[in-house]
Amino acid sequence: MRKVLPILLVLLVAPLGLATAAPGGRISVLCSPNPAWCDAIKAEFPKATGITLEYIRLSSGEAFARLRAEAANPSLDVWFGGTGDPHIEANEAGLTEFYRPQAWNDLRPELREAVAGKYVPLYAGILGWAINERLLREKGIPVPRSWRDLADPRYRGLVAYPNPNTSGTGYTMVATLVQLYGEEGAFDLLKRIHRNIAQYTRSGAAPGQLTARGELAIGITFIHDAVDQVLQGFPITYNAPSDGTGYEIGGLSLIKNTRNRANAIVFMDWAVSPEAQRLAAEQGQSYQIPSNSKTPTPRVAPRFQDFRVISYDFLKFGKASVREGLIRRWTREVEPLPK
Ligand code: G6P
Repeated sequence: MRKVLPILLVLLVAPLGLATAAPGGRISVLCSPNPAWCDAIKAEFPKATGITLEYIRLSSGEAFARLRAEAANPSLDVWFGGTGDPHIEANEAGLTEFYRPQAWNDLRPELREAVAGKYVPLYAGILGWAINERLLREKGIPVPRSWRDLADPRYRGLVAYPNPNTSGTGYTMVATLVQLYGEEGAFDLLKRIHRNIAQYTRSGAAPGQLTARGELAIGITFIHDAVDQVLQGFPITYNAPSDGTGYEIGGLSLIKNTRNRANAIVFMDWAVSPEAQRLAAEQGQSYQIPSNSKTPTPRVAPRFQDFRVISYDFLKFGKASVREGLIRRWTREVEPLPK
């Protein structure tokens, strides 16, 4: 019996996959969420699997550009997190491939359906605003309520949003306005809001950080990134525009032609398990809605029912022609305008 027990144990544990992955080996992750979450997966994945994890952190637009530049000879194995539109573009460009993780059936069906197998949903997050109400009060200006309010000249120099070339959050905002007001209406509004912009930031979380530190009054960012600032003790509030807002379905993609495919697949399976997804809120300062319905949703995660969230068309706005076209137009027509 003494000899049989370990064998029995191996046989019992083997189907679970995670605990029995061959120790050793490494994996390189292209990581787009909050760096604290990237650090958490770097620390915890080796403990679960014996595989070492290295990562580079790039915002979603920059990550996509890196994948495209390395298409012939990829140095990275998995793209973890970041907004979904560029994950869709990467899939359609043949830079990534869909791998169906073991926990696929536990992933929220509405998220799986919205991205139609172009990538694996990792989380969902709602676009909104970090607001420094104290700064607004000092200036005697009301809290804005709608996207149109942001064009009011009273907010001159008090607003920031991320550059859609580098940031998936920034692109989500542009695509949201196009879905709310049509392309001409959206660009007209973006040009008027431009006069109030203090800074176009590189990453999606930066506007919330600037607002938290009192440098700005309104930072356009994912609401859970504003929640992070609130939990760190900064005196800000958050909201989403009353005329409607967009959201992201954060992505997980297997990079095509990786030389590390077996380890990459172990990571894909692990990344959507409840054990791994809990790390987002517990260690990663990330408060999105986890894609796996068995992962507890953080108590502080912004909920869809509390905001007016549009039915964002991921398949359309992740198409290369649409995404590249809107970003090019923004870069040509909005960014260079005088303020
Ligand atoms: C933050 C958010 C993520 C989001 C990411 C996009 O990290 O917490 O939910 O996916 O930003 O980053 P980006 O810099 O591309 O806007």
